[in-house]
Amino acid sequence: MKTKQATALAHPNIAFIKYWGDKDPDLRIPVNGSLSMNLDCLYSQTTVEFDPELESDGLLIGGRQPAENAIQRVNQFLDYVRHLADFSTFAKVTSENNFPTGSGIASSASGFAALGLAASFAAGLELDQRALSRLARRGSGSACRSVPGGFVQWLPGEDDESSYAISIAAHDHWELHDCIAVVSKEHKETGSTAGHLLAESSPLQNARIADAERRLDLCRHAILNRDFQAFAEIVELDSNLMHAVMLTSEPQLYYWQPATLDVMQSVIEWRADGIPVCFTIDAGPNVHVITTGDNSPAVMEKLNRIPGVLEVLIGQPGREARLINR
Ligand code: DP6
Repeated sequence: MKTKQATALAHPNIAFIKYWGDKDPDLRIPVNGSLSMNLDCLYSQTTVEFDPELESDGLLIGGRQPAENAIQRVNQFLDYVRHLADFSTFAKVTSENNFPTGSGIASSASGFAALGLAASFAAGLELDQRALSRLARRGSGSACRSVPGGFVQWLPGEDDESSYAISIAAHDHWELHDCIAVVSKEHKETGSTAGHLLAESSPLQNARIADAERRLDLCRHAILNRDFQAFAEIVELDSNLMHAVMLTSEPQLYYWQPATLDVMQSVIEWRADGIPVCFTIDAGPNVHVITTGDNSPAVMEKLNRIPGVLEVLIGQPGREARLINR
């Protein structure tokens, strides 16, 4: 095989209805469906070069070698791509994120979506969007949602074949902005992969799962009808349910910082004052504050005034994962 290279770009996504817990942790088949929006201004850009001269895979993220477990995760992923393409050549992978990694802004989602696209293309595989979403899912569950564009639903399925994400509305369907209040840039102690394994130890997880289809329906309809009030209620409920499961797992997972709560309380007050705004929080302390495009400058300004908010990033509805420099 000759040296083959490709570069891909993918956006992280923010889940409005969350993925928390697996039916099959190896294949990352989730216990419930989830729904998200890709975040336009944030991205991972990844280049994969299969090179017959290499004696092992190499990985650089932001110009540095990441921790051993991240390297292993990428090796395993590349092994699967090599298995699909039926060759054994090692690869050099270089990836850049334009946002802080490991602090609740899903770098693994954009990272594995970009890696899946670049690696499969460089390996000569021509995967359609569904196959690419299934491939990205094996690297990181939520990465399957960074493959299609705009507003995206992950159909949980039962097995590798049936678990993938689809776009339910294009990026220009609704101008929602995600104002991300960064209250910590530290790498979180317990990552999502370990967290998913703890989910079923919470007595609340079964109730969360049993009600998931209802929340998905409400959220999907709120998005399709651009109904912010209905959207806000279901998004905050879903985030609170996931964090209730985290807090009641054994051992308990506690991701919030004092400033996290300050932001949550402020958002609730602002909504009571008539501003279309709501919060959602992933496996980290940073708060995703969702509002409409016309309200986002004012919301950004308010967030910047809260003590403990280090910076505010912004993400608008983003497109699908794509190849660049072809
Ligand atoms: C809280 O997709 O990051 O962000 O498959 O282990 O990589 P792995 O987990 P990951 O889990 C995401 C958890 C979440 C909620 C969500 O994005 O749906």
